[in-house]
Amino acid sequence: MEFRSAILVHFLLISLALNVGTLFRNYCNPNLFFPKSSNKNHSFSIQTCNASTSLSSSSNVFDRILHLDYGDPTMFEKYWQNVADKTTLTIPGSQSMSYFSDSRDFYWFLEPEFEKSVIRLHKLVGNAITDNRYLVVGTGSTQLFQAALYAIASPESLTPVDVVAAAPFYSGYPATADFVKSGLHKWAGDATSYTNDQTKYIEVITSPNNPDGFLREAVVKPKNCRRTLVHDLAYYWPQYTPITSPADHDIMLFTVSKCTGHAGTRIGWAIVKDRTIASKMVEFVTISTIGVSKESQLRAKLILDAVASSHEQVSAAPPFFEHSYELMAARWKQLRDVIQNSKLFKLPDYLPQKCKFSGHTFAPQPAFAWLKCEGEIDDCKAFLESHKILTRGGNNFGVSNKYTRMGMISRDQEFCLLRERLYQIG
Ligand SMILES: Cc1ncc(COP(=O)(O)O)c(C=O)c1O
Repeated sequence: MEFRSAILVHFLLISLALNVGTLFRNYCNPNLFFPKSSNKNHSFSIQTCNASTSLSSSSNVFDRILHLDYGDPTMFEKYWQNVADKTTLTIPGSQSMSYFSDSRDFYWFLEPEFEKSVIRLHKLVGNAITDNRYLVVGTGSTQLFQAALYAIASPESLTPVDVVAAAPFYSGYPATADFVKSGLHKWAGDATSYTNDQTKYIEVITSPNNPDGFLREAVVKPKNCRRTLVHDLAYYWPQYTPITSPADHDIMLFTVSKCTGHAGTRIGWAIVKDRTIASKMVEFVTISTIGVSKESQLRAKLILDAVASSHEQVSAAPPFFEHSYELMAARWKQLRDVIQNSKLFKLPDYLPQKCKFSGHTFAPQPAFAWLKCEGEIDDCKAFLESHKILTRGGNNFGVSNKYTRMGMISRDQEFCLLRERLYQIG
């Protein structure tokens, strides 16, 4: 009897050890986030350009115009084609007809299911604090940027509040800040040379930054005035940059456009600490578009859930952020291989950091290449344009045209042609 109990205890201990081991593996091991699936599935393979194109002297390399002036995230299309069965949405004619989504007054146009999926993804990735925050959905983060400016600026103020960002800044901000000449806010240029003699200003911090990919913090030192910071975190996702800590700022903007590549869905969200600011942002969206498309929110929900599930469950599809991280890594390696042999172009150098989400230590691999033309070339955009590569010149970002921004998230064929063409140019 004693012997039987000893054996029983022994087995119990082994079983306990195994369970603790499993728990440890699940919670402390990045493999939870990048579970080993049967994902060496051919349809998800990473294109390295060598299969269909080579660094050769083929003459038709120069035939096609390459449109790399936008950050159109078509690179991710292939992944979503391969998981179409899990991400197809059918909406009956009778669904989503009402203007209203949520019985909570304040949130009347926010789809509660979309909100849950946003929070689920942030908790999984660990890139933003969502507890005790207000979530505002918008027609892209572009609408939420305008909503934030509206919410911060005081209607009673006699002069418009200045909006600044450190150069090189995202080219969309100046136009958006000045578009309707509302009298509430105005673009005031480069934050690094801003002398704040106003009583109030807004600084936009884009991190990682568009166009140059660096992680950023506020640069203006407030004197005797009130400042409000708006953090645009469109690219703070683990395929582009190491996730070093959960962002915890007053106003944070995110978008599916760059997270999953669904730019056409036009869905963004703001995570806001202060209720008054959040409710003024809701007011802006209410007045400008009477809410946000329910169909788009439901589609975004499905996509965000598919991303989270791809990390939480073992399936035939690779975890989305692992796959997109590898895609970006492969592209950046190929681009750097070409540029390092070039006397004409230079790329920024980034420091590697450990990503708390994936466990990988890596240097940023941004959605754009911020290219500097060396030597005599003063207009990098015009130079590349003469080789049928369309990019966005430095002057759009508040710096010299020695720099230009080139999209890195286009389709494989376009990227491979780009690499081939840069090689040919020298
Ligand atoms: C930094 C940044 N913020 C916002 C946006 C716009 O995002 P959305 O498509 O959600 O309007 C972009 C698009 O390129 C961007 O680069």
